[in-house]
Amino acid sequence: MAKKSTRIVAVANEKGGVGKTAMVINLGAALVKDGKTVLIVDMDPQHNATSGLGIDVTDEMASVYDLISDEGGGAVDDVLWSTKWPGLDVIASHPDLAGAEVELVDAEEREDRLKNAIQPLIDKYDVVILDTPPSLSLLTINVFSCANEVLVPCQTHPYSFNALEDLFDTIGAVQEGINPELKITGLVPTFFDQRLRVCRDIMERLKTDERYQGLLFNTIIRSNITIAASAETGKPVVFYRTGSFGAKDYTSLAREFMMAK
Ligand SMILES: Nc1ncnc2c1ncn2[C@@H]1O[C@H](COP(=O)(O)OP(=O)(O)O)[C@@H](O)[C@H]1O
Ligand SMILES: [Mg+2]
Repeated sequence: MAKKSTRIVAVANEKGGVGKTAMVINLGAALVKDGKTVLIVDMDPQHNATSGLGIDVTDEMASVYDLISDEGGGAVDDVLWSTKWPGLDVIASHPDLAGAEVELVDAEEREDRLKNAIQPLIDKYDVVILDTPPSLSLLTINVFSCANEVLVPCQTHPYSFNALEDLFDTIGAVQEGINPELKITGLVPTFFDQRLRVCRDIMERLKTDERYQGLLFNTIIRSNITIAASAETGKPVVFYRTGSFGAKDYTSLAREFMMAK
């Protein structure tokens, strides 16, 4: 039997609040709704992806920290959590993950900890989606080393647009250094509001800027309060309010993502 080729996608942007975690949760859930199997790996110590999927993070629970730290020594099966939605699993984060950065400073193969740890699981899933913290840390480097593609949410706001250049430089450096296979699958506008001139201007710049040609997705994630509300209740928006803009946009993103390769 041919080896299954699982897509391993990092959702990354060094800026906070651009919709990374919302994309991880809701793209993952929309793919599962379309019949795919998805593993979400939460690599942000703030663990919003874990909580947003309805899993309460407690002090003593096993998490990705136990997989990648020297202290932890956790087995991959101990840190794998199923969600309420069959086909959607999570490797949870934990506030302790913030300490892994310092602990791993002198460790061997420190960039490859995550990659090595989740290797035994990969084949069970169609797609693995990795959430990243809002900084270029060793945690993010572990994600880039493990992933084979990157999806970039870009808030339709000037700060976010201007920061894209740095992000693309970072990804370029990763491609030259630790992971030559890493490719950028696409750039997805987020927090779009048709009524706001600033959003329309940034959309125009994204469409016309030659640096981003061929990368810009057709799907635009609109600003939709239901996305924030669903995260609060621990449910992805496609399972929370099927008719919302958020559910529609993420369903469309899932389909475009599966076509883009
Ligand atoms: N399209 C959207 N419309 C409205 N609120 C959103 C949208 N996407 C995300 N949010 C909310 O905005 C906040 C920041 O988003 P989040 O995904 O956590 O960003 P990041 O992970 O990049 O820091 C969260 O409260 C989230 O629920
Ligand atoms: Mg986040």
